Amino acid sequence: MTTDHPALAPTSRPDGWWRSAVVYQIYPRSFQDTDGDGIGDIPGITSRLDYLAELGVDVLWLSPVYRSPQVDNGYDISDYQDVDPLFGTLADLDELIAATHARGMKLVMDLVVNHTSDQHAWFTESRDPASAKRDWYYWRPAREGHEPGTPGAEPDDSRAAFAPSAWTYDPASGEYYLGIFSPGQPDLNWENEDVRHAVHRMMRWWVDRGVDGFRMDVINLISKPAALTSGGPIPAGAGGFGAIANGPRLDEFLAEMNREVGLDAEHLITVGEMPGATVEVARRVTDPARRELNMVFTFEHVNLDQASHSKWDLADLPLPVLKANLAHWQEGLADAGWNSLYLDNHDQPRAVSRFGDDSPEHRVSSAKTLATVLHLHKGTPYVYQGEEFGMTNAPLTRIEHYQDVESLNYHTLATAGGTPEEEVLASLAAKSRDHARTPVQWDATDNAGFTTGTPWFAVNPDHTEINAEAARRDPDSVFAHFQRLIRLRHDSETVREGRFALLLPDHEQIWAFTRTLEDERLLVVANCSSRPAELPLQELGELDDAELVLGTHADRDPGRLAAWESRVLRVRTL
Ligand code: NOJ
Repeated sequence: MTTDHPALAPTSRPDGWWRSAVVYQIYPRSFQDTDGDGIGDIPGITSRLDYLAELGVDVLWLSPVYRSPQVDNGYDISDYQDVDPLFGTLADLDELIAATHARGMKLVMDLVVNHTSDQHAWFTESRDPASAKRDWYYWRPAREGHEPGTPGAEPDDSRAAFAPSAWTYDPASGEYYLGIFSPGQPDLNWENEDVRHAVHRMMRWWVDRGVDGFRMDVINLISKPAALTSGGPIPAGAGGFGAIANGPRLDEFLAEMNREVGLDAEHLITVGEMPGATVEVARRVTDPARRELNMVFTFEHVNLDQASHSKWDLADLPLPVLKANLAHWQEGLADAGWNSLYLDNHDQPRAVSRFGDDSPEHRVSSAKTLATVLHLHKGTPYVYQGEEFGMTNAPLTRIEHYQDVESLNYHTLATAGGTPEEEVLASLAAKSRDHARTPVQWDATDNAGFTTGTPWFAVNPDHTEINAEAARRDPDSVFAHFQRLIRLRHDSETVREGRFALLLPDHEQIWAFTRTLEDERLLVVANCSSRPAELPLQELGELDDAELVLGTHADRDPGRLAAWESRVLRVRTL
């Protein structure tokens, strides 16, 4: 239906199918190898589709499989319209798309367009100051009064996320280019409309090929602050991405992309990764009436266990702080916009080790309870490979154990800056992205069934106990619990759409909240600690005739929760 009257224009899919979907993230490099080179590949993903269908997820999101020098494991793309030979071929990808669709699931590609690789043809051309592509990237002369290429001559003092400076000197042209992640990831200049059109064309090509949407890497960094786009330095900020994110043209660029690519098409899903996005930004960008994105990944809740803007600066995280943050987002996006829900992804340590208790005694219960809490919030849940059977952090104790560009850069800079090695290793052991990137533990055999060759990253030795095969056989496993949670979301309108209300906000052990839709109310009570917790029945109300919808423990004490026990109860609204 169309209408000329803008005030009456239908909103963009206010009840999109993705509101009842669960998305599963695949990090292809670590998922399943089939050719014995020790690196996961696309045929490996295809070979595991029945497992994913059995889990019950609706959408698969692939971290990048495009051609790439792999400086940042594929988040540095040198050709957006080809597959890296490491992962297979375009034909393999076509087959994966078809096989995914044949099982009733959808496939979403990672879209990394804040930056390209420095090996991308656009950037190679841009190196020539006379080229029409010079303006496709941010090029700047050396700081005034400094000899280009000498220490301190960078245009400003900004650091890159994975390198000491955001500016890299290019001796051939005597200028610097911007790369806010690493020198291998130069930032595209989205002010230039040819850049935008080239990205739109490429996206349409993928949609035409059959993909069902995009997960958009750091998409709120595409519109840079006015100070930078008008030729000045990056404004100094409090650190992190705060100073550079959510630029003045963000909404315009997103709405234009939506329009030009046709992202509002019924079958597509879009999720934008947005470090430094506030509730206000997220509400605006995901308000269906504005036709920008369906949902965004935000970071506040995964930045709470740090004492400063640096993730390596470790801090304790009291439960009330974490609960309050998720509740703030639930309330902020209650009436407009939509949340995405995640604890794990390829950039985060494993949730069960970080927020739960990965000891043999509590691993299973804590993985289930964290999942219960997350999946009972309102929004679209994301499951990261291995999370569904409780994979843990790896025993990474020496710098030689790490591979990730971010971890290695931190180690170099921090030790050079005088931080004791022990302290640096403790931060890495808690927060490194490498924990998420160990191969998926399919079974208890050597290399966990991931590869017949030498895995690119050591398999976690706990795979002999913790693996998909064992979990699938056990009706009480974390895997079985995820299946139940996914089914519950599919079946329950209250889980999808119900109003959220946090209870017991100051309780140090129990995470409790309700979800209410018309005359149905679900109460979630979850003990997020490794000690039993008395249920404060006076505050929760009488639970005698509450009906158990889903629980983690077979033996239930009406007055208390066991360590890491959670229950979803149907309670009376009055
Ligand atoms: C966010 C991605 O999730 C991360 O893995 C990557 O390093 C940066 N963006 C840069 O692309």
